[in-house]
Amino acid sequence: MPTKRRSAPALAHLREKVALITGANRGIGLAIAQALASEGCNLIITARDEPTLKKTGRELARFNVRVLPLICDVRDPVAVKVLLAAVERQFHGLDILINNSGIAHPSQNVEQLPFESWLEVIDTNLNGLFLVTQAALPLMKRGSAIVNNLSIAAKRVFPGSSAYNASKHGALGFTNTLREELRSKGIRVIALVAGATDTEIWNTLWPQAPRGKMMSSETVAVAVVNALKLPLESTMEELVILPTAGTL
Ligand SMILES: NC(=O)c1ccc[n+]([C@@H]2O[C@H](COP(=O)([O-])OP(=O)(O)OC[C@H]3O[C@@H](n4cnc5c(N)ncnc54)[C@H](OP(=O)(O)O)[C@@H]3O)[C@@H](O)[C@H]2O)c1
Repeated sequence: MPTKRRSAPALAHLREKVALITGANRGIGLAIAQALASEGCNLIITARDEPTLKKTGRELARFNVRVLPLICDVRDPVAVKVLLAAVERQFHGLDILINNSGIAHPSQNVEQLPFESWLEVIDTNLNGLFLVTQAALPLMKRGSAIVNNLSIAAKRVFPGSSAYNASKHGALGFTNTLREELRSKGIRVIALVAGATDTEIWNTLWPQAPRGKMMSSETVAVAVVNALKLPLESTMEELVILPTAGTL
């Protein structure tokens, strides 16, 4: 029996949805914020640096969407709770969570890496991911989506980046677990596995890195928005996007 042909399912729309993006005042987070706003999505944007966050909020206003800039250090459980309480008060729910905040550390082998650097990276990239996700989940319903900005360092290792590699490998384990826990609730969990992208993070990681070989943040943002627009019957569980030039 031939399979009965179905008409193409409609793409999910982002207009008037509510998205929270951590680390949205520059780099990949900012590009995702702009891409979502251009689709008509309302935004809550966070980071630690108030002046740049406010400036970003003013710039995003040109898209005629609601934009709420709120300072939050993702390492601070109290600040994260305050952030999500504000989201609930002002938006009554959350459709999209983009866990994007992250830091790197200067290239140093394990013998040299200060314990403070290890702690700071794990606290931001892994503990912060847990804290924001846990606080956001009560606001998220069937059809909503979580994008965790991991890295190709979640799959491969780069010598000199032990804390960064470990944080991103841990974040991938967390993301995969979360996806299974949320499957029956109809909440999609997307692991964003991006290769080298031209942002400020490289000033810490490798200042002389060949920027010309990297992707732009806007390219990564296009891929994220396309994944979020997939019909709700489907999910891009892992979004791997790499520079055409390959690894650096
Ligand atoms: N660039 C790449 O090649 C690449 C590739 C794959 C994945 N990634 C990942 O992409 C994410 C964004 O990085 P990026 O490349 O766009 O670098 P970036 O330009 O340095 O942006 C990092 C963002 O995280 C925020 N942030 C850092 N610590 C924070 C904290 N404790 N609490 C809240 N926000 C914090 C920063 O804002 P404040 O400093 O104001 O807090 C900033 O908005 C990171 O998770 C990174 O690991 C990057």
